Amino acid sequence: MSTPLLDETRFAAALRAAAPQRVGAVSATVGLTVDVVGLPGSVGDLVTIGEGPTATVAQIVATRPGTVSCMALTGGAAHPAGTPARRALIPPAIPVGPSLLGRIIDGLGRPIDGRGPLGASETVGVDNSAPNPMDRARIAHPLQLGVRVLDTLVTVGQGQRIGLFAGSGVGKSSLLSMIARGTEAEVSVIALIGERGREVREFIEDDLGAAGLARSVVVVATSDEPALMRLRAAMLATRIAEWHRDRSANVLLMMDSLTRVAMAQREIGLSAGEPPATRGYPPSTFSTLARLLERAGTGPSGSITGIYTVLVDGDDHNEPIADAARSILDGHVVLDRALAVTGHFPAIDVLGSVSRLASKVTAPEQRDDATALRAVLAARRSAQDLIDVGAYRTGANARVDAALRAERAIDAFLRQRIDERTTAADAWHALHTVTEQFGAAA
Ligand SMILES: Nc1ncnc2c1ncn2[C@@H]1O[C@H](COP(=O)(O)OP(=O)(O)OP(=O)(O)O)[C@@H](O)[C@H]1O
Ligand SMILES: [Mg+2]
Repeated sequence: MSTPLLDETRFAAALRAAAPQRVGAVSATVGLTVDVVGLPGSVGDLVTIGEGPTATVAQIVATRPGTVSCMALTGGAAHPAGTPARRALIPPAIPVGPSLLGRIIDGLGRPIDGRGPLGASETVGVDNSAPNPMDRARIAHPLQLGVRVLDTLVTVGQGQRIGLFAGSGVGKSSLLSMIARGTEAEVSVIALIGERGREVREFIEDDLGAAGLARSVVVVATSDEPALMRLRAAMLATRIAEWHRDRSANVLLMMDSLTRVAMAQREIGLSAGEPPATRGYPPSTFSTLARLLERAGTGPSGSITGIYTVLVDGDDHNEPIADAARSILDGHVVLDRALAVTGHFPAIDVLGSVSRLASKVTAPEQRDDATALRAVLAARRSAQDLIDVGAYRTGANARVDAALRAERAIDAFLRQRIDERTTAADAWHALHTVTEQFGAAA
């Protein structure tokens, strides 16, 4: 066999390396953006500003005639006017592959767990489009999350996207960690975005544990990282989940928190010169959220079940991000501060939580049990004032009577210790045992 005269790939690489490189210059710095002149590019391109160890990798967020505005992805050193800027040689690609399982990476796809290179088999672009709605498989099977209340009363289907809504400190992250440990999903992708640095290690070492980590990829961008990095981490986690879905896996994508992603986009949008709209959020925030959330869900085969925590500012459930998320997602779990302060965990407000697909992924007799408990809880809630002042009389309402009679059993069913794991089968069985006590009332 004769040796080819020309190695095509090496020739192409040599041509690229020999091509003249354009060098622009920093013209102005306003707030978080750096304007560069003389370096044409489009939004999303990466740029290196400065040279040597103080160089900043930045991304173009806006373009104007003759100027591009960039925001830092890494580093945050100030660069005076005239600092040279070049197209970054870092390809905007992210590593994917089975070797990422058990690893912890940052928003650029670099390992941060000190366990050496990722050994990824492939790289892909960070952007992707959602599957064509007509190619998406219908959601027909439940996904066990390992939390009794969720598995029975707010049943989530494989490929469904659901939000955990609560004010600060009501137990969103704790509930997410219970799910991370209790789920039966083959692959978990966990994005910790804009959270405290302290919580990251706690989450990985205490909550997830070695067994949980082994089937997970964890993407981390803490609150002190640049906004672009936080946003990118959310996109990257979604992209990794998509890669596994496209290979027919049932993936669980958990994001803590979606609100911090929205806040990162607000920072970027405002810095790029967009006008603030609802509560300071520029219009791009809402389109970014929609694009991100639509990428989860089912594909032709395989699925991404998305669980996103949403911080409800000042316990106001109608604030714009909570509102936008609720309208895009296929269900919401509401955590109630009143329950948390009495030590009732997980502090899930059952009557305020709904899975829009529960009826598609449960059997009729399971639905009967779930409806029975909901009905009894609703009756009890409406009679709560009377019960509190001692004015309720037994016999006035059969459902309230059932609620009072089975109070301890209901309570034991709803509460779950953070380290207590149950299977969905056990949860349904426990629910049935509770509703049997209602007798004719249900
Ligand atoms: N299942 C649980 N069992 C016992 N305590 C819990 C449970 N869930 C939450 N808590 C308590 O609530 C506190 C706050 O929980 P967590 O950090 O999960 O809230 P959060 O909603 O994520 O808060 P933030 O908005 O600040 O991120 C925990 O430190 C813990 O004391
Ligand atoms: Mg939290």
